[in-house]
Amino acid sequence: MGINILGMGSYVPEQILKNDDFTRFIETNDEWIRTRTGIVERPMAGWEPTWYMGCQASRKAIEAAGIDPAEIGLVISCSATSDFHTPSMASIIQDSVGAVNSGAFDLNAACTGFVYALDTARRFLETDDDLKYVLISANESLSKFLDFTDRGSCILFGDGAAAAVIERSDKLFSSALRSDGSGADLLCARAMKVPSEISCEAPADFNDSFPDLQLHKLFQNGKEVYKFATQALPKSFALAAEKIGITKDEIDWFIPHQANVRIIETAAKKLGVSMDKFIVTLDHFGNTSSASIPLALNEGIEKGLIKRGQKLALIGFGAGLTYGGIILEY
Ligand code: UT7
Repeated sequence: MGINILGMGSYVPEQILKNDDFTRFIETNDEWIRTRTGIVERPMAGWEPTWYMGCQASRKAIEAAGIDPAEIGLVISCSATSDFHTPSMASIIQDSVGAVNSGAFDLNAACTGFVYALDTARRFLETDDDLKYVLISANESLSKFLDFTDRGSCILFGDGAAAAVIERSDKLFSSALRSDGSGADLLCARAMKVPSEISCEAPADFNDSFPDLQLHKLFQNGKEVYKFATQALPKSFALAAEKIGITKDEIDWFIPHQANVRIIETAAKKLGVSMDKFIVTLDHFGNTSSASIPLALNEGIEKGLIKRGQKLALIGFGAGLTYGGIILEY
């Protein structure tokens, strides 16, 4: 059983930071950022909560799908940057869009979130005959986690949301999800610490392998993550492709996570696929974590590049370290 992407929508914040804007806080320049990453500018949420962006994107997706939101049976929100530990962002979105007959939960697989969510949605649709539509919303405000004194990471990320309404279909579908938690400390942000009133000594054999992180600030070992990403991208495609015996030449569009254009170029070479077959949006969005694949997918559809019946490979990789690929017919 496959899925049909019935409608999509997106929202990006009004505030745009150009490369030169970063010279206000760090020693950098437009040329370094362009040549090392491919990024020119990125939206950053000045006032918009993450949930707000998700609600806006979701409303547009429901409108594009032309469905009654009361027929949505499940809302999955993927994010690494929720405004609240609880409630889930999915519940906020579910209420805001009028999905009054729906369950809702959050899913965090960092930048691979949308790939994990699509796979999860398909499994729900396969096992629950009463479920007609699933709404997936990928919403991120990386800017709120950034260390604006770290020039190696703060220039990479952007904020935004993109959503999709999914239904079951007999179209082509394959997916492969993976995680390598041995690299969990290469890309991380600490969410909480023990209050001083109740802290006590840890046993001698307890080992927290994570660096002593500032609360709510993203830490990244850029070089190691880069190495991982250039391997994870072709591997994810190969894992999903071999399940259904499809070759790279049969794929119309590759839609990878948008972290660094050099990562995409290296992976394209490894795969033996022309860059013309890759949708690249990081020049104007930066890396928007789980929102980056659906933002690129939606832009490709809106520009008329991606057409019904074409075969797509969506490939995610990121913190966790998670990675995974989905091959589907649009
Ligand atoms: O969502 C998935 C997660 N993230 C990724 O996929 C990111 C993966 N990593 C990368 O994209 C790259 O490693 C970076 C873009 C983060 C860094 O690029 P790089 O080519 O690996 O640069 P580098 O870390 O080796 O740094 C080279 C130099 C250093 O200076 P020295 O030591 O050679 O004097 C850095 O201090 O560039 C310097 N540098 C900068 N210079 C100007 C680092 N950041 C900047 C900056 N502006 N923003």
